[in-house]
Amino acid sequence: MKVMITGAAGQLGQALLRSVPEAINGDTVELIACSRAGGSGGVALDLADAAACQVLVDQLKPDWVINAGAYTAVDKAESEPELAQAVNAGSPEAFAEALQRSGGRLLQVSTDFVFDGSQGAPYRPDQPVAPLGVYGASKAAGEAAAARALDPDRLCILRTSWVYGPVGKNFLLTMLRLMRERDQLGVVADQVGCPTATPGLAQACWGVLEQRASGVHHWSDAGAASWYDFAMAIAELAQAAGLLAKQPLIQPITTADYPTPAQRPSYSLLACGPTRVALQQPAVHWRVALQQVIADVLA
Ligand SMILES: NC(=O)c1ccc[n+]([C@@H]2O[C@H](COP(=O)([O-])OP(=O)(O)OC[C@H]3O[C@@H](n4cnc5c(N)ncnc54)[C@H](OP(=O)(O)O)[C@@H]3O)[C@@H](O)[C@H]2O)c1
Repeated sequence: MKVMITGAAGQLGQALLRSVPEAINGDTVELIACSRAGGSGGVALDLADAAACQVLVDQLKPDWVINAGAYTAVDKAESEPELAQAVNAGSPEAFAEALQRSGGRLLQVSTDFVFDGSQGAPYRPDQPVAPLGVYGASKAAGEAAAARALDPDRLCILRTSWVYGPVGKNFLLTMLRLMRERDQLGVVADQVGCPTATPGLAQACWGVLEQRASGVHHWSDAGAASWYDFAMAIAELAQAAGLLAKQPLIQPITTADYPTPAQRPSYSLLACGPTRVALQQPAVHWRVALQQVIADVLA
């Protein structure tokens, strides 16, 4: 089975590369890792170049494309809407069109930021999207474009939230740096979602391929947290693991206290129950997953 992964240098891409199964349903996995720069045996691919995305799929005819690459700079996207749209909407559309011709399947990774967060209850996959910012809108456009181009039984959209892992640019690693540098910091306490560790998310992606899942699915770790809760847990678990000499004073602040170019949903919990059943993967509480990732940072 030929599996093409985009965003191979990103957080999820790295976790996928570290966890490639030898075979899926008895079929040996042949991996094609694509990143902006290529290198290390990978293929260079600019996701903003729709023609290049199509040509690669036309040439290689993968059984699956896992589109884990994305323009993920939520705030910067507000001033670069064309680029965010080209990458986040253009690449899934291009992959879907080419896969429609070749007979392959697409796993499009998407985000809780397609919702506006106003309902105050976990979002189900079938609920209408209403993104607040350019990033969320571009990801929602990518979902819709892929759905227009590819047969429904060959498209799986997997939305996830608050992704972090032992490598890359993420809240955990930023907090660890700030906690070492400062005696006190303020963290937003009025946005609620669920942190999702990359190792479990990668397993969910492989589960999609194993189960040949299609349709829209939601995947995060279990539980709920504000960014403040997440920061408090990072401080406690990192100190216990010996990653932090001392815990700084962490103060809860409001979104209004920390203005950002992009508006974010205040409540973006994803209802993941049906996906856990479909993928046959149990829920792991985000705090348990965090402890494991902190151990990975140490390793
Ligand atoms: N991070 C989150 O909190 C979060 C939350 C919900 C959903 N998601 C979704 O989960 C997926 C994985 O996210 P992640 O956290 O792993 O993101 P990430 O660490 O930012 O990785 C994204 C990768 O995409 C690559 N990329 C961006 N523009 C590109 C281009 N024009 N051509 C080629 N490569 C390009 C980046 O390469 P460069 O490093 O060279 O820019 C990066 O390696 C994405 O679909 C994202 O939308 C993420």
